[in-house]
Amino acid sequence: MAVTGAGSGFGAAMARRFAAEGANVLAADINAEAVAAVVAGIVSAGGSAQAFGADVSQAEDVAAMIDAARGMDGRLDVLVNNAGFSHLSGPAWELEEAEFERVFATNVKGVWLGVKQAAPIMIEQGGGVILNTASIGAVAPRPGVTVYNATKGAVMTMTRGLAVELARHKIRVNALNPVAADTGFMRGALGVEALPEENRAALIRGIPLRRLTSPEDVAAAAAFLASDDASFLTGVCLPIDGGRSIS
Ligand SMILES: NC(=O)c1ccc[n+]([C@@H]2O[C@H](COP(=O)([O-])OP(=O)(O)OC[C@H]3O[C@@H](n4cnc5c(N)ncnc54)[C@H](O)[C@@H]3O)[C@@H](O)[C@H]2O)c1
Repeated sequence: MAVTGAGSGFGAAMARRFAAEGANVLAADINAEAVAAVVAGIVSAGGSAQAFGADVSQAEDVAAMIDAARGMDGRLDVLVNNAGFSHLSGPAWELEEAEFERVFATNVKGVWLGVKQAAPIMIEQGGGVILNTASIGAVAPRPGVTVYNATKGAVMTMTRGLAVELARHKIRVNALNPVAADTGFMRGALGVEALPEENRAALIRGIPLRRLTSPEDVAAAAAFLASDDASFLTGVCLPIDGGRSIS
């Protein structure tokens, strides 16, 4: 199996969780050093994982990554398209065109490139699971990250469309829709080293269960959606949001 964006945050937690459940995990990230450290932790805890440096917006990188993942098991049971980032928070009309293209290339094209490589393998082997990290921001957008939220809307639509297209091949496709989490993502979106306390408090006030998403929340949802317990679930975009999207 493969997890992208596994060098930090949700992806690192998913790689750890799948390895703890006995999977052979190809942990991929554009930050090769960060993902090597995550893999070292998994291996020292007794898990099976390999680090792979890959930029998900680059077709050759994604093809090599999927090859490496298939090399670990001789098949590809699960692909988690999780890598993503946000442009700096600010008015949508002030975003630079190059930044618009960069965020769509990673968050949307990156998912499609993963599917492009994984689907033929999963079709041939007679089944599989694809998980895409979208965001609750696609359902309940906040000001400042409109273009980012649009990328996640595209991921949700792609997830639902693929679920229908791939169902006859016994391939399930679902999305994870987390609310805010204090990961590298949040620091990148705000352009700060640490999430300021006032931002954290404001985010928490908007979440009925009164906390941020933890990477382990996302990993638990991913483990469930990839498992046979979820064998009748496809095209689901699962809110992992403490009730934010209904408040
Ligand atoms: N943290 C949040 O508040 C939040 C909320 C909802 C959804 N998400 C989504 O969750 C996913 C994971 O984010 P996170 O919160 O763990 O952030 P993070 O910054 O901690 O981790 C993201 C990882 O993706 C990697 N990455 C970025 N661009 C890449 C590329 N082109 N190719 C390969 N790897 C790349 C980064 O190096 C990083 O290790 C993203 O898709 C993000 O949009 C995050």
